[in-house]
Amino acid sequence: MEKLQRRDWLKQNALLLAGLGFTGKLRSLGLESPGLGDKKNMPPFVKLSANENPYGPSPLAQKAMAAAIAGSNRYAWQLTDEIRKKIGQLYGLDENHVLMGAGSSEILGTVAAFTGKNRGNAVSPHPTFRLWWQVAESFGLTIKKVPLTADKKIETATLLAAMDNNTKLLYICNPNNPTGSVIPAEELKKCIERASEKAMVLLDEAYTEYSDEPSMAPMVATNKNLVVAKTFSKIHGMAGTRTGFALAHPDTIRQLAAFQPWANAGVSAVSLAGALASLDDSSFLKECRAKNDIVKKYSALALEDMKMTVVPSHANFLYYQATGFTGDFSKSINSSAINAVRVFEDTGQWYRTSIGTMEEMKYFIDTVKAKWA
Ligand SMILES: Cc1ncc(COP(=O)(O)O)c(C=O)c1O
Repeated sequence: MEKLQRRDWLKQNALLLAGLGFTGKLRSLGLESPGLGDKKNMPPFVKLSANENPYGPSPLAQKAMAAAIAGSNRYAWQLTDEIRKKIGQLYGLDENHVLMGAGSSEILGTVAAFTGKNRGNAVSPHPTFRLWWQVAESFGLTIKKVPLTADKKIETATLLAAMDNNTKLLYICNPNNPTGSVIPAEELKKCIERASEKAMVLLDEAYTEYSDEPSMAPMVATNKNLVVAKTFSKIHGMAGTRTGFALAHPDTIRQLAAFQPWANAGVSAVSLAGALASLDDSSFLKECRAKNDIVKKYSALALEDMKMTVVPSHANFLYYQATGFTGDFSKSINSSAINAVRVFEDTGQWYRTSIGTMEEMKYFIDTVKAKWA
């Protein structure tokens, strides 16, 4: 981006930044200014490696969790029913379309186990979120990895072409982790319709709320071969509470539930109380999205300033190419003070960094600048 455009962007966002609590730090927002890192508000260790939300949990969720501790001697059946109802309504469905899990990781693993019971293969873009691969493989699925395009997008035609008579599962992460790219809604919908005629489609929507793309969850009302996995770990800022869920047709939910030793019981009463409160805190969710957008833009511009290629991100992390860096970029940046660079591909010098607070990102950019010269 040209310097003039950059200045315009900063000017346009000055009011918003002030409203979001960046007042007084605006001066240091100038990308050209040296010594960006404002260490006053920094945590002792800057963690930008797991795409967590640095602003959460919401104050309402924290209050609800604190209040729920005293009731933890009881099983959380009532709260479980309540949250399944609430989540169902949120997507124009009902509680029978919802299965709770200890994070969406549990949901991904459950779907992998369920589809693996008949052996075969699972088609997956690469790179993507691959935590479920291990479960899939131990249940007898072979992973068919489909490369992304050169500009790091998932091409649905290539995914569909990779499916064969042995395909039991197609996994799509939208927006994709680690690239942050999205499949436009119409294209995704068509891909789900076609793929689900042959196999189960597992759509991972961990980051949808950071994008402008709609959830595909309403499709599960009529499609038994679609599972949408969602989480409270990202926009809700509740990764440590381990709260996630699946949205699927009631018949599919019943089959998946049979793979949980105790269906819907993997989330604690405290976590459920927090999640319920967080669902009601729309202003907190909006604020997280707005802050993330601004800090992400700042970070992308700063990396581009260093001549890096940055993939347009629709999530809370950036994927960028540090070509020209001599040596091991991740080893060089990560230290006892910061964990910010993760590698997902063997070639091409592509790296992922999560979006933290403005102070954290300034520290990260400063660190990169110092090593970059
Ligand atoms: C795409 C994606 N799906 C699922 C998860 C798992 O989230 P959790 O198990 O915390 O809900 C993550 C975590 O980083 C993720 O990036």
